[in-house]
Amino acid sequence: MKVRIIIICVFMLSCLFFGFRSNFPKINAQKNEIEFPEIIVMGQQAMLGRITFNHAKHAIQGPGGLSPIACVYCHHVEQPLSEAAKNPLHKTVFPADRIITLTAETFKDINTPKVIGCRNCHIRKDATPTVLKEIPQISEGDKITVLTNHNAFHRRCAGCHDQVLKDNPASNAPKSTQCTSCHKKS
Ligand code: HEC
Ligand code: HEC
Ligand code: HEC
Ligand code: HEC
Repeated sequence: MKVRIIIICVFMLSCLFFGFRSNFPKINAQKNEIEFPEIIVMGQQAMLGRITFNHAKHAIQGPGGLSPIACVYCHHVEQPLSEAAKNPLHKTVFPADRIITLTAETFKDINTPKVIGCRNCHIRKDATPTVLKEIPQISEGDKITVLTNHNAFHRRCAGCHDQVLKDNPASNAPKSTQCTSCHKKS
């Protein structure tokens, strides 16, 4: 009898443990949907400290009075090539034959390809991306930029923040030169 109770307890505890441990995105098995991650803690290996990125504020509510930012402004590979190529720097989409653009609405559609995180491609220098042969790079004039996580995120995030601060110096947007407005220790 006692043995059986212990076995049941161990089973229940392991369910709890593995249940809570699962990483985002959570897969909802019934609807085959991925949940939208509201807060994303980034830079786990950054010496300056981690960044707490409020994904929902940026993409759903709209940050600091701005309109919500279009999904593909950041997730640039989540659209058909004909759309992506409107920006001359963009030549890659994923998967290559996709026909649906990621939006807050199409995200819920079962036919929309699963969103693939930036860090599968824009990885730390010296590491190899999971879905590309090498870390992406772009050339502008004679300048070549290797888009590691460092360069890709700073480029995508900082431009807007600095513009917002220029228009409204009282904004909470983190200034690109003030590193610890994003990177926080502990
Ligand atoms: C198109 C504009 C825009 C882009 C792109 C953008 N942000 Fe922001 N961000 C803002 C604004 C505006 C605020 C100020 C929000 C407020 O006042 O509540 C902000 C605030 C923040 C803050 C301060 C805390 C908070 O949530 O208010 C952090 C951290 C941040 N952004 C990180 C990022 C990261 C990381 C990226 C890139 C993945 C990014 N942002 C891209 C406009 C932008
Ligand atoms: C301001 C930039 C920005 C915008 C706008 C944005 N996202 Fe994201 N999103 C991110 C970043 C950064 C991550 C984390 C990527 C990583 O971990 O590599 C992410 C992660 C995700 C993930 C998890 C992917 C994974 O498995 O790692 C999903 C799903 C997602 N976003 C959906 C959306 C949808 C839907 C929209 C539009 C409604 C949207 N995002 C708008 C920056 C953005
Ligand atoms: C499937 C791989 C892949 C994913 C996922 C991906 N990128 Fe990229 N990214 C690239 C490639 C490849 C380039 C070089 C241009 C091209 O080929 O389209 C690039 C270029 C860029 C650029 C430089 C061009 C520009 O618009 O200024 C930025 C910034 C960038 N990516 C940020 C991001 C962010 C932020 C995410 C996630 C929200 C992301 N990327 C997701 C592959 C990817
Ligand atoms: C808008 C927020 C923001 C600001 C401001 C910012 N960073 Fe970052 N930084 C990020 C994000 C997001 C990443 C990508 C983290 C990841 O890959 O998960 C990053 C990555 C990095 C990395 C690479 C970390 C690694 O993986 O090894 C370095 C180094 C870095 N930042 C230094 C700086 C310095 C120096 C400054 C100030 C000049 C600065 N950052 C300002 C958001 C920011």
